[in-house]
Amino acid sequence: MPNFSDITVHTQRCTLRSWCMDDASRLSSIANTRDISWNTSYKFPYPFDSQAAQRFIMFNTTDTGNGTWQFAVLLDGTLVGGCGAIRGTDVQSHTAVIGYWLGVEYWGQGIATEILGALVTYMHDETDIEQLSATGYGWNPASERVLTKNGFIKEGVRKGVVKKWDKTTDLWIYGKLLR
Ligand SMILES: CC(C)(COP(=O)(O)OP(=O)(O)OC[C@H]1O[C@@H](n2cnc3c(N)ncnc32)[C@H](O)[C@@H]1OP(=O)(O)O)[C@@H](O)C(=O)NCCC(=O)NCCS
Repeated sequence: MPNFSDITVHTQRCTLRSWCMDDASRLSSIANTRDISWNTSYKFPYPFDSQAAQRFIMFNTTDTGNGTWQFAVLLDGTLVGGCGAIRGTDVQSHTAVIGYWLGVEYWGQGIATEILGALVTYMHDETDIEQLSATGYGWNPASERVLTKNGFIKEGVRKGVVKKWDKTTDLWIYGKLLR
């Protein structure tokens, strides 16, 4: 089994590879927008300055290939976003929670659908993970669409459990069995 840092996954248009500190400057330039943070937890902050970028990369390069699988997404050699999965704990350690995001100028071109497809295939073929789940906010139908296009099933809605920047919404949950 190769080191996670040596793994490259190719999709029709993109390349997925592990993160490195050299990504920090480009990362802070594409991630530094409320539009992305609005749909993510406070761990993906706004503003997303160079310190936030370094923290993000540190987190996404720790315990990779075992407890987490985090990919930088490149389009024509340029960093455009990220996707990955984090292993559950205890009786859920055979499962993982996925996430994905793109710089705003890359939205609406089917890229998230394409990279999520590659992530699902990677998790199925190259890991022991048996089930994937994703959560998102009530005001993010585009992300729900990305999930359903990749065969995820809506498992439920937790009413009113998300509060971001003083606005409250629901948390939806999608799942997909891999085996
Ligand atoms: C969510 C996100 C990853 C989508 O990326 P993307 O590359 O634009 O997604 P795609 O183009 O592959 O697919 C988006 C789908 O949502 C649809 N869509 C977009 N806005 C929508 C809306 N307001 N209501 C319903 N559907 C919508 C699109 O039409 C498309 O579906 P289609 O192919 O059937 O036409 C991107 O907007 C993003 O990075 N958002 C911020 C971070 C985030 O939300 N991450 C996910 C957290 S759960």
